[in-house]
Amino acid sequence: MSDPHDLVAFLDLGWQRLTRGVADRRAAARHPVFATVSSDGAPEARTVVLRGANRHDGTVEVHTDGGSDKVTSLRSNSRAQLMVWDDKAKLQIRLSTRVTILHGGDVADRWQNVPDGSRMAYGASPPPGTPIPNAHAYTKLASLDWFTVLTCRIESIELMQLIDPHRRAVFMANDDWTGEWRVP
Ligand SMILES: Cc1cc2nc3c(=O)[nH]c(=O)nc-3n(C[C@H](O)[C@H](O)[C@H](O)COP(=O)(O)O)c2cc1C
Repeated sequence: MSDPHDLVAFLDLGWQRLTRGVADRRAAARHPVFATVSSDGAPEARTVVLRGANRHDGTVEVHTDGGSDKVTSLRSNSRAQLMVWDDKAKLQIRLSTRVTILHGGDVADRWQNVPDGSRMAYGASPPPGTPIPNAHAYTKLASLDWFTVLTCRIESIELMQLIDPHRRAVFMANDDWTGEWRVP
């Protein structure tokens, strides 16, 4: 490693590992934990696929079913955190974000790029989370009507690296991503 006190290089590493998750199915950042807050204040965490990471815009992108509980939660509280543990880089990445929910005409172009086999993730009858009498008592709709893009605008990035000695830093959008070291 070059200078371990170089904040810019540390942030570069974080973005490198994130963008790799979009391109490489086997990269750790492919499957972040996506945490939201329900309307009654309860934490909700689940695995998602990282579909986009744009350092220039300071955004990451997740695709989901518009009928899922996370979308209901995001309508009442737009804050979400994404968390990745990248074992190869010994790096935990936490992205604190505000989410914009896009659907319908706004995502029709992206829908064209969703492979047929993946479309079944969008839309179900009865809707996701509904109690059913047996494991298979549902139909997948594979419909643009339910295809929903979550654009997550990053407010802060926290990096924690378990090398010896440990390193931790926080980078804020409103501080132009300057970053500061924190006690791990
Ligand atoms: C490996 C893996 C990848 C997943 N990817 C997504 C995804 O990209 N989008 C999504 O909405 N759900 C995805 N899921 C399902 C979610 O973890 C979750 O079960 C589902 O979205 C319902 O969550 P909710 O009821 O909290 O909204 C994935 C699950 C696994 C195990």
